[in-house]
Amino acid sequence: MEALRIYTEKPYCLRGEVTISGAKNAVLPAIAACLLTEDRVELTNVPLVKDVHTMLTLVSELGATYHLDEGYKTLNLEVKKIKSTQAPYKLVRAMRASILVLGPLLARSGRATVALPGGCAIGTRPVDLHISGLQKLGANLKIEHGYIIAEAERLKGAEIELEKKTVTGTENLVMAACLARGETILKNCALEPEVVSLCELLVKMGAKIDGIGEETLRITGARQLGGVKHRIIPDRIETGTFMVASALTGGDLVLKEVEPQHVEAITNKLVIAGSQVEQSDRNILRVKGSEEIKPLDITTAPYPGFPTDMQAQFMVLMTQANGRSIITETIFDRRFSHANELLRLGACIEIEGDKAIIKGKTPLSGAEVMATDLRASACLVLAGLIATGQTTINEIEHLDRGYEKIEEKLRQLGVKIERFINNNNNNYKKAEVKS
Ligand code: EPZ
Repeated sequence: MEALRIYTEKPYCLRGEVTISGAKNAVLPAIAACLLTEDRVELTNVPLVKDVHTMLTLVSELGATYHLDEGYKTLNLEVKKIKSTQAPYKLVRAMRASILVLGPLLARSGRATVALPGGCAIGTRPVDLHISGLQKLGANLKIEHGYIIAEAERLKGAEIELEKKTVTGTENLVMAACLARGETILKNCALEPEVVSLCELLVKMGAKIDGIGEETLRITGARQLGGVKHRIIPDRIETGTFMVASALTGGDLVLKEVEPQHVEAITNKLVIAGSQVEQSDRNILRVKGSEEIKPLDITTAPYPGFPTDMQAQFMVLMTQANGRSIITETIFDRRFSHANELLRLGACIEIEGDKAIIKGKTPLSGAEVMATDLRASACLVLAGLIATGQTTINEIEHLDRGYEKIEEKLRQLGVKIERFINNNNNNYKKAEVKS
């Protein structure tokens, strides 16, 4: 398996500039939205991450043709004809966001057979709200042999109130409603920037959506949608990850091509913990860490609250705070697996139900650790920056799903980091450096 090794003679103090990539959680629904039209869609600022390739493999099986120009980070994609309506288990298992093809497929072709995503390292991850919403839009759905089998002559607009805020649930239903007959009123919508950006893409494609950015969306179905050019928004979680890297190392980082408004909850917490965050230009943030890091009480919440995808990164920051911090995870039921790995590095963390109590300041020492999910991997990379000695992070396939060239970005900041094949018998072969 591939691993990353970080050499840390003494804790790093990161200084310099980092350019943030496009958002994984914005490009995945945007690719799914291309199923709604037979015209060509051009997406720019596409992040070169593993999940994009997985999604492109999936939509190709459904009938898409595409060209991804990695140099210009531009994706041209068209689905002239749906040639299959099956999203197979092997792909859905590899990436839960595959569920995002359910709504568009059903709306475009009247049929969809999508494997149930199942749970993952961070929680049970049900999709009952996706299913019940599509049923309200007139689809017949049944679950057989681990697949959602859905049919609909033509979806019909309805009034739907989501029991919980669900990001991909909102996205699936908005996409389905865009081709439904009549008006759909969707209440208690997720407000994440990725949801807003998807709605903006759909409107550019010819959809009629009112209330974008609010909890109630009114969607008037169209007969068809058209092609368009759309820029993927910056990744607010990658932004937050590098903001924490600066705070954690007492550094001074300039983050370029960011959307400051999307990281306000992160900025607020970092300022309370002692960092300075200034917006030096429309899309530039400068983050200066402080000598002393103050403890925090954090509770994750749907946007614009504190993002669950930043919980793991803040946990490692809190190991260096002077005092006791509490992190309450309200979104997922099993999102503390990174705590066990931080303990191996010397952290002092106790888990009590949905709360993690972190006592700091504890010096961390390098060790071999295991990545369990995407954001846990990011947390362990951050820990490696301050854990003296070598830190080896195994199973970094998780990291590659959502961070574009993270070791290159860190290397440019002076971090000694290398990717290698860890075949467990200490005979390390360097992995080929990914272009
Ligand atoms: C999206 O996942 C993101 N993924 C996740 O990012 C993110 O952590 C999550 O939203 C929360 O912000 C993508 O956008 C591709 P939810 P999603 O539906 O849509 C419950 C990352 O690291 N729920 O908003 O799957 C669910 O169990 C990933 O980039 C139901 O009960 O999350 C959870 O408790 C990890 N029934 C809550 O809602 C449903 O039908 C929020 O989940 C759907 C969700």
